[in-house]
Amino acid sequence: MRTPIVAGNWKMNNTAAEARRLTYELLTDLQAVQGVERVLCPPFTCLQAVSELLHDTGIGLGAQNLHWEPKGAYTGEVAAAMVAEFCQYVIIGHSERRAYFGETDETVNKKVHAALNAGLTPIICVGETLEENQAGQTAEVVSRQVNAALHGLEAGAVSRLIIAYEPVWAIGTGLAATPEIANQVIADHVRGPIAAAFGDQAAQAVRVQYGGSVKPANARAFFSQPDIDGGLIGGASLKAADFIAIVRAATG
Ligand code: 13P
Repeated sequence: MRTPIVAGNWKMNNTAAEARRLTYELLTDLQAVQGVERVLCPPFTCLQAVSELLHDTGIGLGAQNLHWEPKGAYTGEVAAAMVAEFCQYVIIGHSERRAYFGETDETVNKKVHAALNAGLTPIICVGETLEENQAGQTAEVVSRQVNAALHGLEAGAVSRLIIAYEPVWAIGTGLAATPEIANQVIADHVRGPIAAAFGDQAAQAVRVQYGGSVKPANARAFFSQPDIDGGLIGGASLKAADFIAIVRAATG
């Protein structure tokens, strides 16, 4: 039985002061939810402030990116050990980073290794674009991204990962995938390649989230699918009442 995990990806929203306010609004209700791993992923500049509020609450903290080199002349970048000072999780390979900031399958893989070496749990994002979806390439794209992200890992490390299947056309559009189709993509093209490369045990242990226009109204339909273990939530994670409702929907 996999514990569901619901993470809020705040993207580039909230100053530290705003982040403190939102975290404060979320705290009591999020803490009260049992049986769901809960994670907030604010911008880098909010990590310290939010980590202070989350101390001893059982709610995890994640960054939205990292760099794979341990230190050095990489202006503007943040290393895994720096993230690990505050966080337990890190989002890697989000489609916005792939689309706007030159993230590739190869850099995703380097970041996954760096995160695991620093003791962080990576939340690895995969998903096809609208064009790829319409061209019937979902299977090929998603399985390629999964295989590339996990290249060179041990089976034991794979079972500790989180993967988020986020069809790019569903992100921020209000146009969610159907729960049944998302479940099928995850079973066949996320767990499938993992089973082939690392064995059935790893494929069944790895937790796979759905992301893309998850709202209080549709969350339960996604989270009740057998291969979906929670969600990666964008827009709705910025509204306390919505995020709390979505986390509660993962309790089954
Ligand atoms: P939305 O929930 O706003 O569609 O964003 C999903 C996402 O990109 C989470 O990483």
